[in-house]
Amino acid sequence: MDIKQSIRRNFARRAGSYDRHAEVQRLMARGLMERVQEELPRARRLLEIGCGTGYLTDLLRRHNPQAEVVALDLDAALIEQARRRLGPDPKVSWLVADGESFSRGCFDLIISNATFQWFTHPRETLRAHFQALGPGGCLAFSTLGPQTFRELDASWRQAAAALRLQEVAEIPARGFLTLQDWEKLLDLAGFSQVQLAQQILEAHFPSVPDFLQALKATGATNPRPRAFSPRLFAALIQSYEARFRQNGSIPVTYEVIWALARK
Ligand SMILES: C[S@@+](CC[C@H](N)C(=O)[O-])C[C@H]1O[C@@H](n2cnc3c(N)ncnc32)[C@H](O)[C@@H]1O
Repeated sequence: MDIKQSIRRNFARRAGSYDRHAEVQRLMARGLMERVQEELPRARRLLEIGCGTGYLTDLLRRHNPQAEVVALDLDAALIEQARRRLGPDPKVSWLVADGESFSRGCFDLIISNATFQWFTHPRETLRAHFQALGPGGCLAFSTLGPQTFRELDASWRQAAAALRLQEVAEIPARGFLTLQDWEKLLDLAGFSQVQLAQQILEAHFPSVPDFLQALKATGATNPRPRAFSPRLFAALIQSYEARFRQNGSIPVTYEVIWALARK
């Protein structure tokens, strides 16, 4: 299965449980709303990429009920859920599409929450988004950086080393782009007035399996899953607990990056 299909399937399978576990993504969406408080009321044509179950779409509609919104996602089940959240709304067009190859239309604001980290060719995609904006238009997004799940990454490596495994795949978050990478790509795509911000958040879970289950329930799991043995899994949990448990819980780092850029 190709990587896009795998990302789509991971999220689609968890359409029903996503909202219960997407606290960090909601926080990212609210941060994004703060950053577009000047641009949003002025926008008449809006494109949202990776709308998922529609949390941000709903906020966008409430803050600018006049705008025409195109909200797209890779998967139909998520679009269906978002459509139900908002109810009938003639100003919103729902679309099952890949936000990396969608270049129709002319928008005042292209916005996306917690989705860009899944892009497979961000350089070309930012160029396409630049093209799809009208003069003075804005691209605004939140994404996750490579420090996300740093405890999981460290424990995974330690567990593999303890079991003398030669080759274990990196966790996907290790490959997420840094703030500096996004800055460079936005610049290369032609954007100006680029503003970036980063925040390190720490979530807490009662145990490592609780964290992994919550992660699974949001669909944000490895699109290139590898079978791994119960021994490695047990070693991972043991290493995570031993290195990071504090005051009765285990910490989970999220590196959040927000970007606002103008054409
Ligand atoms: C973490 S969820 C965020 C959903 C929503 N924006 C929110 O804030 O709750 C990521 C979403 O991006 C979608 N997605 C991932 N890659 C995409 C792409 N290339 N084009 C469109 N949607 C994509 C997934 O299907 C999923 O619904």
